Amino acid sequence: TAALPYANGPVHIGHLAGVYIPADIHARVQRLRGEEVLFICGSDEHGVPITLRARKEGVTSQDVVDRYHKIIGDSFRDLGISFDIYSRTSNQTHKDLSQAFFKNLYDKGVFREIRSEQYFDEQAGQFLADRYIVGTCPSCKNEGAYGDQCEKCGSTLSPTELLNPKSALSGTVPVMRETINWYLPLDEIQESFLNEWIGGKSGWKSNVLGQCKSWLNEGLRPRAMTRDLEWGVPVPLEGADGKVLYVWFEAPIGYISATKELRPDDWEQWWTGDSRLIHFIGKDNIVFHCIIFPAMLHLRGDGYVLPEQVPANEFLNIEGEKVSTSRNWAVWVHEYVKDFPDQEDVLRYVLCSNAPETKDNDFTWKDFQARNNNELVAIFGNFINRVVVLTNKFYEGIVPNPSSFSDVDNATLTELKAYPAVISSSVERYRFREALGELMNVARLGNKYLADEEPWKVIKDNPERVQTQMYVALQIAAALSSLCEPFLPFTAAKLSRILKIETKIDWKTVSQTSELIPSGHQIGEAELLFAKIEDEEIQKQRDKLEATKVANKEEIASAQAETEPQKETI
Ligand code: 2FM
Ligand code: ZN
Repeated sequence: TAALPYANGPVHIGHLAGVYIPADIHARVQRLRGEEVLFICGSDEHGVPITLRARKEGVTSQDVVDRYHKIIGDSFRDLGISFDIYSRTSNQTHKDLSQAFFKNLYDKGVFREIRSEQYFDEQAGQFLADRYIVGTCPSCKNEGAYGDQCEKCGSTLSPTELLNPKSALSGTVPVMRETINWYLPLDEIQESFLNEWIGGKSGWKSNVLGQCKSWLNEGLRPRAMTRDLEWGVPVPLEGADGKVLYVWFEAPIGYISATKELRPDDWEQWWTGDSRLIHFIGKDNIVFHCIIFPAMLHLRGDGYVLPEQVPANEFLNIEGEKVSTSRNWAVWVHEYVKDFPDQEDVLRYVLCSNAPETKDNDFTWKDFQARNNNELVAIFGNFINRVVVLTNKFYEGIVPNPSSFSDVDNATLTELKAYPAVISSSVERYRFREALGELMNVARLGNKYLADEEPWKVIKDNPERVQTQMYVALQIAAALSSLCEPFLPFTAAKLSRILKIETKIDWKTVSQTSELIPSGHQIGEAELLFAKIEDEEIQKQRDKLEATKVANKEEIASAQAETEPQKETI
């Protein structure tokens, strides 16, 4: 599964680098290895950020999610993210399944019904859950903390912990009003299940385990699984009018409901059988996927699979600054595909090479250009171009017959056959940057082979030897077309077209195969795999980002200018 993005805005490159590209590479590698894979995602269409945006724009919440569900889904498709389904949590299957899930736990007596005083906005006439309330973080004193979380220090909060609380709806100071909600007793579940279960996860990434352990060390507290809100999945209990399921209760159930939508006949087997469940997420989602959702699955008591791995990544900054959607400091995927047509793989490549696997990383347009020009064009593209041009020149595009293999040929072919296992092993350990580095080593192997063997010189005196050299080089090119598929699927398709190889190489058996492209096979003409990116294109993108800074300053200045006369009047 890949985290369900909130349908309250488009996706940016930070989302891709942290979650969707690694998840896609993983799913593609598993498929190439012959595993049965369901790669699940969809839009998270409930939660306060959506209703806040709808209110700001003067439209309905449904309008907001319809708009962004489409934009986000298109962005993923355009970038080649190979979900088996991209669903949404506002659909009926999801509503039914998440209500049934709640009812299942309710009937088992899992929830604690707690009557408490919650903040209420008298002007807006509603309770203020989660992001409807803002105030000062009690830990780091950030004045813009939300009722559920401080984004500055990462603390998870409840509205009553905020200092100087204010309604995000009307800006007024809220009052306390009594209400009933249903709580998951995480304190009890910690003792009965979570301590031991998480304690046994020695193979999880250290950033993930670190966060989980610090939660457990602090001691978990009961957490409300319902909210007094309009927008969401209604609580399926009598007398619970005006209450919906907490978005973080029902959103992860979205993984299950999307599976049901995709595989109506055997969806349950995927969730109760011997599946390996892997959640790709960003670091801000760790607690929900490592603590709350596993607790929910465990409490059902009917054998639902628990996550085997939750390879959460850190964040990607842009040009040295944190991504900020409100300040528009972001590179939006739907804009990238318009600005760089046919260069989806360049973005996939750069984001994977620079993925924030162990720490926050930085994306810069200069680095984007350098990685394209110095790596994709100069190493990968250059090798393929030389092989295809020479094969066409010497043999009218027909793969030649090799004669006897030299030691170097044998060593090169042996090394080549090891790569599917080498790359898979990095991917299995969630080291996607390392895996991509190994892919580029295949192209480097090819370049070195050609540079050392110099078939363009040897052809004059020993044409028979060149047949073997070009045969070996073509095997490397054919291997690249399969090995690059998980990382660069558009390039893989182009390369298979150029080499006219239709069948996919099975990564499990490739080490036994002697020929990836046989003698006598006719390849096509050379085509450019990657194009150089010029300085002007990069400058345009940097100017676009800078312009958002100017626009933000102007907006702040004009807001101040507008408020000044009001002071005099007062
Ligand atoms: O952080 C987010 O964008 C959430 N919408 C992720 C939800 S993941 C899942 F649990 F649904
Ligand atoms: Zn804080």
